[in-house]
Amino acid sequence: MRSIDNYQTLFQAFLTENSFNQMPQELYEPVNYILSIGGKRLRPLLALMGCELFSDKIERALPIAMAVEVFHNFTLLHDDIMDAAPLRRGQPTVHTKYNINTGILSGDVMLIWAYRFLMNTEGGDAMTIRLLDIFNKMATEVCEGQQMDMNFETRSDVTIEEYICMIEFKTSVLIAAAFQMGALVGGGTEGDAQHLYEFGRNIGIAFQIQDDILDSFGDPLKFGKKVGGDIIQNKKTLLVLKALELADEVQKTDLQKLMSETPTDEATKIEAVKSLFEATGARRFAELEMENYLKIAFQHLSAPPLSTDKKNYMHQFANELMMREK
Ligand code: IPE
Ligand code: IPE
Ligand code: MG
Ligand code: MG
Ligand code: MG
Repeated sequence: MRSIDNYQTLFQAFLTENSFNQMPQELYEPVNYILSIGGKRLRPLLALMGCELFSDKIERALPIAMAVEVFHNFTLLHDDIMDAAPLRRGQPTVHTKYNINTGILSGDVMLIWAYRFLMNTEGGDAMTIRLLDIFNKMATEVCEGQQMDMNFETRSDVTIEEYICMIEFKTSVLIAAAFQMGALVGGGTEGDAQHLYEFGRNIGIAFQIQDDILDSFGDPLKFGKKVGGDIIQNKKTLLVLKALELADEVQKTDLQKLMSETPTDEATKIEAVKSLFEATGARRFAELEMENYLKIAFQHLSAPPLSTDKKNYMHQFANELMMREK
């Protein structure tokens, strides 16, 4: 396996070669903007790694890597409108820098381009159809997860089970499918690819729990998004749900009141809710849950016929991902 930098360089070169220089500029410039302001490139990395677990020819996975990154960025354009988010990767979100219509339509065209890249994958018609099938299932689930996330904002009876299902759909199926599709194009069997899907799915759940923790407790200088955004939007994160469960009567009333009012001062609400996450033990619980999902993920790495070196590599990659600050 290569260094992370090596995968990043390979992907960046493909992205540059395929940059969006078409007309109308008003449609494509925001696409280049969102793709150029950074991002960890987690999903393309996984597609490339998934391929390299089974083949040396990792260039084969580049169209998949591009498809999943463009799709991911499409979801971010629309998600930032839905979440009224001002910042992304330390820069203004597309709908803030341009306008809402731009966020919608540039997002739409990215979704279509994601499919165009996917269809450029080598391997013949059967491979293309298989990849489309995986992609369609994933993309449908992402929309379903996003709708659940929206529905939960105004519900006060969301369960932890419902939350896990929501984050599985909105976030982890894309991470899982990127890895699975990479493995398939690298020549892994359906069975191997399914284990890698499960690995990715559990990593993805841990990844979204971590995103929720960072949204409240991240360093504003490093996180790149508005810290406290989820609290202001009344998102039903694991932190909220567990805090409500562990709270004493006074804490519970305080939290319910905070979550039901539009604050005159956002910073005060954010600080009050964060102290309740700490005081109830919800933050610690969420951190332990991340570790639990990571453990489940690792169990799925044991089955595929891969060298110990390759398994160790994926182990280390996942462990390092869980220490991210953005
Ligand atoms: C943000 O994804 C959306 C979530 C699923 C949490 P990332 O944290 O991978 O965002 P970038 O691409 O690195 O900016
Ligand atoms: C991400 O959820 C899910 C999708 C973009 C589909 P969030 O709303 O938590 O993502 P961020 O925090 O804005 O990146
Ligand atoms: Mg968001
Ligand atoms: Mg969202
Ligand atoms: Mg978030």
